[in-house]
Amino acid sequence: MEVIKVKNYDELSEKASELIAEKLQKLAKPVLGLATGSTPEGLYQKLIEKYKCGDISFKHAQSFNLDEYVGLKKEDPNSYRYYMNEKLFQHVDISPEQTYVPAGDAAAPEKACKEYEEKIKAAGNIDIQILGIGLNGHIGFNEPHTPFTAETHIVDLDASTRQANARFFDSLADVPTQAMTMGIATIMKSKEILLLVSGEKKADTLAQVIQGEVSEALPASVLQNHPHVTIIADEAALSSLK
Ligand code: F6R
Repeated sequence: MEVIKVKNYDELSEKASELIAEKLQKLAKPVLGLATGSTPEGLYQKLIEKYKCGDISFKHAQSFNLDEYVGLKKEDPNSYRYYMNEKLFQHVDISPEQTYVPAGDAAAPEKACKEYEEKIKAAGNIDIQILGIGLNGHIGFNEPHTPFTAETHIVDLDASTRQANARFFDSLADVPTQAMTMGIATIMKSKEILLLVSGEKKADTLAQVIQGEVSEALPASVLQNHPHVTIIADEAALSSLK
């Protein structure tokens, strides 16, 4: 794993946007793996700026998001489809039909999970997957003790994850209890992975991910087994490294 240390969140977002811009410029049909949450917001902002300056285009890109809440309609402001439209898609030239987000509102969720997996395969797998990390070490919504062999599936969200995400909802009770997520095996099939971590709150988790044992108890530790992972983290997030 290569660790790139930056000063702060703004530098993290800039550095990440440069790496994604490079993929968009070099690959004929880039396949991007995208994340939601607070961490990649700055990255998406910088990508929009680069697009507006004419430095990059998403015309030939496809995107696959990591996860989606179960039970929220696409139009729900808390759905990840809505987030992606607002924070990135509607500001750049990506074709909406080339953007995929797991179908959290599918009538047949198990079938939708299989189809999602197939679509990623048909795209030739993800060229670069952006990840954030949960306080409990989750990636996507793969909570601790998710088998490393899991592909796209439905998960029950940890109480701590629902608590952490309650800031986006009116109340904790409104946070969905389940999500549809790429599995660890899905994520590990990506050709390259870019993990973004900002802030002191995540420092202990990140130290474990980099220096601890690989264990299903800490999902992100699996990244030690991937041949091409870049971690961009700010000084605060790296403050617990030994
Ligand atoms: C989001 C996702 C999650 C987040 C993680 C960190 O699509 O898959 O794993 O990356 O919960 O969230 P933030 O960035 O809000 O701290």
